[in-house]
This record gives sequence, structure tokens and C-alpha cells, in this order.
Amino acid sequence: MKIRLRENGSLVLDLPEGTKLVLNGEERVLERAKLALCRCGHSENKPFCDGTHKKVGFEAAAGELEWFQG
Ligand code: FES
Repeated sequence: MKIRLRENGSLVLDLPEGTKLVLNGEERVLERAKLALCRCGHSENKPFCDGTHKKVGFEAAAGELEWFQG
């Protein structure tokens, strides 16, 4: 599994469209094949990215975090 760190932006997980998530007991269904999580701390819809990182001038390096089970 891998998390992509977008340059100056969010943490992105590529998940199958229709993946079910449970956030604080509330089920949600992913409508896209991507889940973008805020890492700038300014989203109005945490833990999800809402694009505010662009307005606040968030800066961070791009990268990847990958892990394997087993
Ligand atoms: S990373 Fe996009 S709003 Fe925070």
C-alpha cells in the first residue's frame, strides 16, 4: 500500500472507487478512486483535503510512503 505526498499538498491514497470508509462511526462511500487527506492543517473538511492548502501557500516536499504486510 502506498500514500503519495503531493508537492505542497495533500496525502493521497489510491483506493478502488466505491470503497467504504467509516469516519467516527459514519459510513461514507468513496465516489472517486482517490482519497486525499489534509496535511496542511487548514482544511474546513478535515481529515479530507478541500484545496485550502493552495490558498494558504502550504509548502512541503513530494514523496511516497509505502509499506508491505507480511
Ligand atoms: S492539504 Fe489540502 S487542504 Fe490541507
